[in-house]
Amino acid sequence: MPDLPVLLQIGSFTTRMADQLAPRFEILSLFEAPDRAALLAARGADVVAICTDGHWGIPDDVFEACPKLQVAASYGVGYDGIDVERALSRGILVSHTPDVLNDEVAATALMLWFAVARRLVLQDAWARSGTWERRGNAPLTQTVVRRQVGVLGFGRIGQTIARLAEAHGATVHYHARSRRDAPQIFHPNPVALAHAVDVLIVITPGGSETRHLVNRPVLDALGPEGILINVARGSVVDEDALVSALVDGRLGGAGLDVFADEPTIPEAIKSLENVVLTPHIGSATYETRAAMGDLVCDNLIKWLQDGTLKTPVPECAALLA
Ligand code: 8YV
Repeated sequence: MPDLPVLLQIGSFTTRMADQLAPRFEILSLFEAPDRAALLAARGADVVAICTDGHWGIPDDVFEACPKLQVAASYGVGYDGIDVERALSRGILVSHTPDVLNDEVAATALMLWFAVARRLVLQDAWARSGTWERRGNAPLTQTVVRRQVGVLGFGRIGQTIARLAEAHGATVHYHARSRRDAPQIFHPNPVALAHAVDVLIVITPGGSETRHLVNRPVLDALGPEGILINVARGSVVDEDALVSALVDGRLGGAGLDVFADEPTIPEAIKSLENVVLTPHIGSATYETRAAMGDLVCDNLIKWLQDGTLKTPVPECAALLA
């Protein structure tokens, strides 16, 4: 049997992915390698494909040690962590996993909003700690029905969030780089959007263009009853401004799935009562991660078959034309 093409596995992947890829590639696990530099020095020159995610991207040492690298398949829709320009300049194709996680991430956004508005964490503690027996009913909370909901970033996931919110009677407002042909209410900037809504759900791409798009003026526009939900990237929100808005009572609450320096969460955020925190689990269900993993494999298998990708990042279009 001829030698299989060599695939470098940058992060962990599931057994289901390994089952699909192992018959087709020789898989080298950088993730489990006891000596990463030694593995790259010994085998980097053979690597033609990598499997990564939005967090690991294509590390510098991999770019440098793998001159024959031709394709990078990423397990996730967001690819701000991948230096696509550098990859393309080397002729390396990049794929990601759009669409298959839209519903899950949108559901996570609503879960966080509902948890903050209805004070789920406090209610759970009230029920299980005996406070209900000692002090009676828990305090009333804010409704999640028929609210003004803002969606910052109106791509595939943003539009799915809109539909889920509308199922709860919401009027949906949005801001995106351009006005969409959509019935929801467009605002020309994030401050105007925040002024108009009770809850602002952030679902823009990450990267330099959206860094700190949610800053003090936006948080102040959202106001003391307002709720901020971030299921995008930590970089989109100015975390210091967020903490001070929450501490000062200029913002009502926040539900955060993503953070500026994951997996580290600043103590100042952890100690706040009016926040609900989750560890970047927007797409992290068995079902959705299986679909994402399958799409990673489909991309790598298609590349083996005909040199193209099923879901390339848009910047690859010229290389694939
Ligand atoms: C994953 C994500 O956390 O798709 C994305 O952009 O942030 C997530 O779904 C990640 O890519 C999995 O490692």
